[in-house]
Amino acid sequence: MSGAKQSQVDKLVSNVRKMDETGLLPLEVYNDRALHEAELERIFGTAWVFVGCESELSAPGDYFLRPIGNNTFIFARDEAGDIHVMYNSCRHRGTEVCRAEQGNTTHFRCPYHSWTYDNSGDLVGLPQKDKAYPDLDPDDWGLHEAPRVESYEGLVFASLADNGPSLEEHLGDFTWYLDMHLKLTEGGMEVLGEPQRWVTDFDWKSGAENFSGDSYHTQSTHSSVFEVGLTENLGAAGGSHHHDISHVDGHAMTLRLAEEDKPIFFGYPDEVQTYIDDARLSDDQYNIAKRSIIQDGTAFPNMSFLHIALKDAAESDPATFFLIRKWNPTGPGQTEVWNWVLAPTEASEEYKRRAYKVAVSTFSASGNFDQDDAVGWRGMATSANGTFAEKVKANFQQGLEAGDARVMDDDEWPGPGRVYDTNLVEDTIRTFYGSWADAMTEAENDDN
Ligand code: FES
Ligand SMILES: [Fe+2]
Repeated sequence: MSGAKQSQVDKLVSNVRKMDETGLLPLEVYNDRALHEAELERIFGTAWVFVGCESELSAPGDYFLRPIGNNTFIFARDEAGDIHVMYNSCRHRGTEVCRAEQGNTTHFRCPYHSWTYDNSGDLVGLPQKDKAYPDLDPDDWGLHEAPRVESYEGLVFASLADNGPSLEEHLGDFTWYLDMHLKLTEGGMEVLGEPQRWVTDFDWKSGAENFSGDSYHTQSTHSSVFEVGLTENLGAAGGSHHHDISHVDGHAMTLRLAEEDKPIFFGYPDEVQTYIDDARLSDDQYNIAKRSIIQDGTAFPNMSFLHIALKDAAESDPATFFLIRKWNPTGPGQTEVWNWVLAPTEASEEYKRRAYKVAVSTFSASGNFDQDDAVGWRGMATSANGTFAEKVKANFQQGLEAGDARVMDDDEWPGPGRVYDTNLVEDTIRTFYGSWADAMTEAENDDN
């Protein structure tokens, strides 16, 4: 990286680091080429990045191409049932060995000189090996695997760094909250259909910060969705409580709980609630899930989730779905969004179809919520691209002064993190940028 680019990155990182005191974010972070390149190395080259769900690879030989930053990996299940995350690049001259986005295969054969790999990445065929490469040991020339691959409750993550914290250490106490979704039923969450993906002109951080707890935008950005009656005020009859939860080992989220004690469980109908049990949750987790109307959050760096009930038409019944998002940067101010829809494994096929339909009409490329959100997020990237942007700071000061934002005591809230009795604090987003600044700094130190 050139000296000018390096000093631009250093300036932005040190400004973001002060955000906990200033509540200000340099607007340029949403569209800056030097910063984008540094993020690819320092964040996406080291952090635990979500790749996909084990349930997507239902049979041996199933595979999907999945990005980690600007790299493409083959996410595959081999004949023995083991999962691999392999760099999509032939060991001979480097060309892509897999050219279909998904499928089922026993082998990947390179289109150039036909080196052939089995679905565990082993090199099993070289044309004219005896004459062309008599001394080559195929064991040394299998596909490169991502250096570290681990999963948590069916979610598979990879890290491109050889060393660093384990996935368990990285997620830390955030699993206390993730469990309320992933362990809600005995069978856990199952992916419905294939993930939608679309490339759009906003920065990956806009989506990640928003899902970590930007409740402030909901009533304004999505006002039309409320006006036409596509939201269901589940459990609101007796009132509800909003809580922002920040600093959960570097991750953050927000949730809304019904006041009364009747089982809400994100609005699942009785036919699905039948399968909910407390066997895999603590009493505290179970009781919070029971009163939950909505939860959403972001596991740093770029995996977000949302558990919500919505409608696809005012007159239809709501359906609940669990959404997993991945915000993969594809350029400065440009992101490929990946969008998985999930439901409890035990739910009926009919329910799963309905949940998928409601999710696609609300949270997807054509979904009304995403149409709305993109207006705000694209506008940030556009403004950030101007030369004047270097003078501009975005405001994240909500709840920075102790005043209105009360942090709950340990005896009021059983879970980890800094928990507020309101959702009008931007401490969730300041948490995201704190992790961002740490990652951008730690990796830089490692280089030295
Ligand atoms: S580049 Fe793949 S076989 Fe030559
Ligand atoms: Fe939104």
